[in-house]
Amino acid sequence: MSKATRLYQFLHGMTQKTTYPSVINFDITSKCNLYCEHCYWRKNYDPAGEFTDSEWEEIFKDFYSKGAHSAFLTGGEPSLRLKVIESAYQIFDTITIVSNGTIRIPEEIQTRIFISIDGPKEIHEKIRGRNVFDSIMTNIKNDKRVVLTPTLSTTNYHYIEDLVQIARESNVDGITFSTYAANDKETDKLLLRGEELDWTVNKLEEIWRKNKDIVFLSPKIIKLFKSKKFYKNCYLRNQTKEISYDAQLKQKEPCVLGEGVDCSTCGCIVPIVAYAMSRIDVRAWLLFDKLFSERYY
Ligand SMILES: C[S@@+](CC[C@H](N)C(=O)[O-])C[C@H]1O[C@@H](n2cnc3c(N)ncnc32)[C@H](O)[C@@H]1O
Ligand code: SF4
Ligand code: SF4
Repeated sequence: MSKATRLYQFLHGMTQKTTYPSVINFDITSKCNLYCEHCYWRKNYDPAGEFTDSEWEEIFKDFYSKGAHSAFLTGGEPSLRLKVIESAYQIFDTITIVSNGTIRIPEEIQTRIFISIDGPKEIHEKIRGRNVFDSIMTNIKNDKRVVLTPTLSTTNYHYIEDLVQIARESNVDGITFSTYAANDKETDKLLLRGEELDWTVNKLEEIWRKNKDIVFLSPKIIKLFKSKKFYKNCYLRNQTKEISYDAQLKQKEPCVLGEGVDCSTCGCIVPIVAYAMSRIDVRAWLLFDKLFSERYY
């Protein structure tokens, strides 16, 4: 697919409120092998039964036949369901995986994989609750399918430079950042606000200037982490159509972060890039092209 067609489809998908969504987010499992301090999954965890591999295959075929041609696979931890990932890869035109990196995604699955690394070993393991850093590094080494996707909170915002170094040393395709979104912005201790958020934004700008080859950000995008101007226009929040589903195929609202999230605290890179693209930020368009590389889409 050409660059122009991909960009057109993305923007078209964002703005059409009546047609069936072309990209769907599936939590393919409600299980996880980690227990991260910041995770919305912990707040909304539903231990109800899981679909079998063949049930997922039928679900994917059904969505595809209705017009959903691309799937984001997340969870819980999607790599716990490798067979489900394989069938999504066979059925949809394109898939994107968001994983904690503890289980390597087989080489045959040639797609973009976002791996959540939240800091150097000690910090990552403090946040993620298990001693998994070294094995994740082994799993992702030299894997160009991978873009690192840290979530910055009050626990790890001082480790932005270390995270860029980890991206370099592991020789993955790049790194981008999101900031933590809270349910209660008055009391949440992980939420970056005030001077901490200012410091974060300045540091992101500094590391972007020094590492443009692997840091997938732009100055306008970085400013949006602070101004939050994008959230009222967030295409996920404003769509009436179904986009995000949990592991029991219940619709998640307003988005994958689930019920209760305060959109005014959001720092999710996906709606931020979408907003910047809709404001004709050329760098955001180039960034989109890096995040969702032509190699896979
Ligand atoms: C819920 S996880 C599911 C996929 C996989 N288990 C992982 O850790 O990547 C998806 C992403 O959401 C991030 N995340 C979890 N809770 C969040 C929150 N409250 N605000 C922003 N991002 C969050 C995680 O750090 C991870 O990068
Ligand atoms: S690994 Fe992913 S789903 Fe599991 S607790 Fe951590 S962020 Fe949440
Ligand atoms: S939490 Fe963020 S991504 Fe989700 S609907 Fe709100 S603004 Fe959009």
